[in-house]
Amino acid sequence: MRHAALLGLCAMLAGCGGEDAQPEPETFPEKDWPAEAEALLAGDDWYRHAVFYEVYVRSFQDSDGDGIGDLKGLTSRLDYLKELGVDAIWLMPIMPTPFKDSGYDISDYQGINPDYGSMAEFEALLAAAHERKLRVIMDLVLNHTSDQHAWFSESRKDKTNPKADWYVWSDTPSDPNNGCGTANPTFGDSAWQLDPARGQYYFHRFYPEQPDLNYRSPAVVDATLDVARFWLDKGVDGFRCDVIGMLYESATECDLIPETRDYVKKLRKVVDEYPGRVMVAEPSKLTDASGYLGNGSDMFHMAFHFGYGYFWGFPFGSQNATGIVETFQKSLASYPSGAQDALVIGSHDVQRAFSVAQGDDTKHQRAALIQLTAQGTPFVYYGEELALRPGSQQIVDQRDKARTPMLWDASAGHGFTTGKPWLAFGAEAELFNVEAEQAAPDSMLSFYKALLTLRRGRAIWGTGQMEILDTGTTSVFALYRADDFMAYVAAVNMTEEARVAELARPGLGSRAGRVSGSGQLTLTSAGGTLSLPANGAAIFRVR
Ligand code: GLC
Ligand code: MG
Repeated sequence: MRHAALLGLCAMLAGCGGEDAQPEPETFPEKDWPAEAEALLAGDDWYRHAVFYEVYVRSFQDSDGDGIGDLKGLTSRLDYLKELGVDAIWLMPIMPTPFKDSGYDISDYQGINPDYGSMAEFEALLAAAHERKLRVIMDLVLNHTSDQHAWFSESRKDKTNPKADWYVWSDTPSDPNNGCGTANPTFGDSAWQLDPARGQYYFHRFYPEQPDLNYRSPAVVDATLDVARFWLDKGVDGFRCDVIGMLYESATECDLIPETRDYVKKLRKVVDEYPGRVMVAEPSKLTDASGYLGNGSDMFHMAFHFGYGYFWGFPFGSQNATGIVETFQKSLASYPSGAQDALVIGSHDVQRAFSVAQGDDTKHQRAALIQLTAQGTPFVYYGEELALRPGSQQIVDQRDKARTPMLWDASAGHGFTTGKPWLAFGAEAELFNVEAEQAAPDSMLSFYKALLTLRRGRAIWGTGQMEILDTGTTSVFALYRADDFMAYVAAVNMTEEARVAELARPGLGSRAGRVSGSGQLTLTSAGGTLSLPANGAAIFRVR
């Protein structure tokens, strides 16, 4: 299996085959790409040209031997991220927490989890990142707090305290205004928990230790907008907004009801008071993010495209591109102009890309190639660039399997810690780690670096026009990307057999130079003939 996977990897990379005769790129005009990158990333729409990287601080780098990743550790690894070709990092929650939901249960919105360090160390991280021109966004978890948050301690005391209405209370384990939440708790069977002290039930969309804030109280609106201001004042570059569609509930609908949209618009106004800051939504409807994008400038800058990100395993499993075509057609048609797609193939909430690809590196790479060539902003989940294997230990919940410590080398602590890691390393840690993969031209890490280099400075990837090409077959997915300066065709064979596809699209150009992968493209005035090897993919410059 490993041997076959390596051969597949080799087939994906230009220059390691030999048998395949597509000429090297003909001379197309070039620019000073590093200078272009600097200019693009300095503008207010930097986020449309950036590559983001999601970090679980607890699992990234330990600096003090306690086995828990921390802010100082992350700071010491910023150069790795620069070298990888990343422009911004998203920190999963770093605030104080009883850790019932890996930090998504916050007990203090203005502090730092002592396991991860101090506020001074956070400020040092921000400064070190900004010095390297790396931006930092953080998770903003506003739907709920921890049951250990001071606001909840007060609210649960009795029915008359000043924060009595800061959470969603009811005399019965139900609420006529809250019907859909009652029917659909994300974790467990009931979304209502009896609080004996207050003698009422509180609503929790997630774990019972995560009571939902009541946004119908104006004081909650003010207090949470102040949380955003607090971190913006610290200098963070924006927020990843956790389950943000669920702030307000109603009898029949809990996703992004009008009251929630109004709140998001207020939050956007706060963010807009600080130049260059951005917010990306975690949509709760996995197959439609368009509602989060408002008119393109009054709600989120970006929303995660889960229709691709969380479902790509199915089209690759069935070797049929239809699902991918449909989800991108939908985003192209429904997103307002000015809005940006946020493209993922994994996160801390789902299985590792390695697992979704069933251990087939070519599948992982073909999925990543679509993520990295479609119009939008890619978010890479830490370790994805190594094809990090899943773990087997579970401390918080089963998602820990995709949250194992980063692997830097083959030593006992894998460069992550000098102590005992808080969560056991994933499988095959001696073989698949940064040090080993840096040295291997056909590794997953080399694949990612090559594609991120190809993106660098080229505005076309973030904002250029995108067309899904008619390939005449569900076996081949192909994209045409174009801007004033250049154009590309990116193509993926969904199947385990070599394929030839006819691209019926006039005007693609007359010459194609392959810049990545393997396969051939011959252009004519009517379109082009594309051949891809089994499990193969390629990117061609066509103008
Ligand atoms: C989001 C997070 C997830 C968390 C949940 C509740 O979906 O990504 O990890 O469990 O919100 O906060
Ligand atoms: Mg530590």
